[in-house]
Amino acid sequence: MPTTDLSPAGPALPIALPVDVTTVAHLQGPFAPVVEETAAADLPIEGELPRELDGVYLRNGPNPRFTPLGSYVYPLDGDGMVHGMWLSDGRARYANRFVQTEALRAEEQAGRALWGGLLTGLIPDSSEVGPELGGQPKSLPDINVVRHAGRLLALAEADCPYCLSPTLDTLGRETFDGMLPAGMTAHPKVDPRSGEMVVFCYLIEAPYLTWATIGPDGVVTRPPTPVAGLDRPVMIHDMALTERFVVLVLGPLYFDMQAALSGGSLLAWSPQDGTRIALIPRDGGPVRWSHIDTFWSWHGANAFDDGSGPDAPVVLDYVQWNQPGGLVPGPTQGALVRATINPRTGAVGRDIIDQGTMELPRIDDRVIGGRHHRIALVAVTGKRPVVGGDHDALNFVDTQTGERVQWDAGDLAVSEPVFAPRPGTHDADQGWWITFATNRTNGESWFLVLPAHGPETGPVARIRIPTRVPLGLHGSWLPTQE
Ligand SMILES: [Fe+2]
Repeated sequence: MPTTDLSPAGPALPIALPVDVTTVAHLQGPFAPVVEETAAADLPIEGELPRELDGVYLRNGPNPRFTPLGSYVYPLDGDGMVHGMWLSDGRARYANRFVQTEALRAEEQAGRALWGGLLTGLIPDSSEVGPELGGQPKSLPDINVVRHAGRLLALAEADCPYCLSPTLDTLGRETFDGMLPAGMTAHPKVDPRSGEMVVFCYLIEAPYLTWATIGPDGVVTRPPTPVAGLDRPVMIHDMALTERFVVLVLGPLYFDMQAALSGGSLLAWSPQDGTRIALIPRDGGPVRWSHIDTFWSWHGANAFDDGSGPDAPVVLDYVQWNQPGGLVPGPTQGALVRATINPRTGAVGRDIIDQGTMELPRIDDRVIGGRHHRIALVAVTGKRPVVGGDHDALNFVDTQTGERVQWDAGDLAVSEPVFAPRPGTHDADQGWWITFATNRTNGESWFLVLPAHGPETGPVARIRIPTRVPLGLHGSWLPTQE
C-alpha cells in the first residue's frame, strides 16, 4: 500500500495517498465506477420483453465515489451503488443511486475520500469528520440488496444495512428497532415456508459470531445468539439454510487486528487449520461441527435436508476455491461442489458437480432451504482474457442430471443471474434469468432476459441502458405482485 510520511517534523500517522487508478484492474474497464446518478424511461428494447415481467430488478455493487486512498480491494471496498431496472407493461425504466451513508456524505462535503482502503486501516478522526463518524470504520453497504418486511435493504459484509425508499433514496441505517445493533451478513436467507429471514453476523471481538431471525413482519424473533466454538474472529461471507439448520462454511481466513495495527494484513489465511462447517440447529441445541480439508467458499447455492429423521444428511451445494483469490496471492482453482454432511457424526462427503472458474450461484429463491434442481452462475469460458471478478458466460446446471449448459456472452461482461419466475407457476424452468451486462470494448450496458427453459440460446430480450453499469455483485428481482 502506498503510504508516506508527509509531516514536516518527525514521524506521524501514515498518510494514504490516492491509488493510481491506471494500475488497479478493478477500477478499469467494466469495473470502472460511475459518479453520475441517471434516470431514464422508455428504454429501447431488442427482442421481445415478456409482458409478465412486472417488477423491479435491483443490484448492488462497489462503486467508489472518489479515488480510493491507499488500497482498493475488490469486491469489499467501495461505496454502494444500487442499479434498478423497472419493468411494466412491456416497458423499461432505469435508475442508479449511491447508497448515501453518513461517511459518503462527509466525503462529498470534503470533495475526496477520507477513509482509507480496507488494507490501510486509515480512519479519519473527529477533527475531520465530527464526533459521530470520527474513529469509526466506514460503512460499506455495497454487496447486496434485498427486500424483507416491506423494507429495501442495501447490505454490507458485516454491518447494519441501509434502508432505501422504492425510488432508491437512502433512508438510514436499519437496526430493526435496535435489536440488531451490530448488523448482519450481506447474504441473509428468507425461508420461503415461514417468511422468516435468518441472518448471521461475524464480529471482531468475542463472541465472534452470532445468528438471529427476523419475522416476516420485520420483528426480530431471535436476538443475536452466539455460536459457541470460536476463539478468534473469522470471515464468513455467505450462509445456507435448511428446514433444520443454518449452514455456515468457515474457511481459515482470520482477522488479525494486531498485524493490521502494526502495518500488516488485516486478513490472515491459515490453510494449516483446515475448514469447518457449522450446522446450527434452528430450534436451538448445540452446534454440529465438521472438520475437513482446507478450502474457501465465498458463496453457497443452496442447502436442504435430505430426508426427515434426525440423521438425515444435509446437502450443501457451493462454489469451492483452493484459497480466497484476490486476498491471497497464488493461483486459484474453482469448482461447484455438493457436500453431504451427516449431522450426527459430522462426516462430510464431497462430489464435484462442475469444474472451472465460476461464481455468484443462484437458484429459484422460492425453494431456498428445499430441494433445488437448477443453479445459475457466472463463468469464464477461457476463450478470452478476463481479470478476476469478470466473467464472459453464464452457466446453468441441472443438479439432477449433472448436465451443464453455457451461454457464451462474448464481449459482454456479465453479472450475477437472478431468477424471475413466470407469475402463477412453481417450476424453475418457467421464467427467466435476468442480469446486467457491459460490453468490454465499447462500454455499452444492457439488461438481459434469458429464458429459463433453454437459457443457452441467449437473451430473448436486451434492454439498452443509457449509461454504463459497472460490474457488481448481488441483487433481487422484486415482482410487483408476489
Ligand atoms: Fe457475495
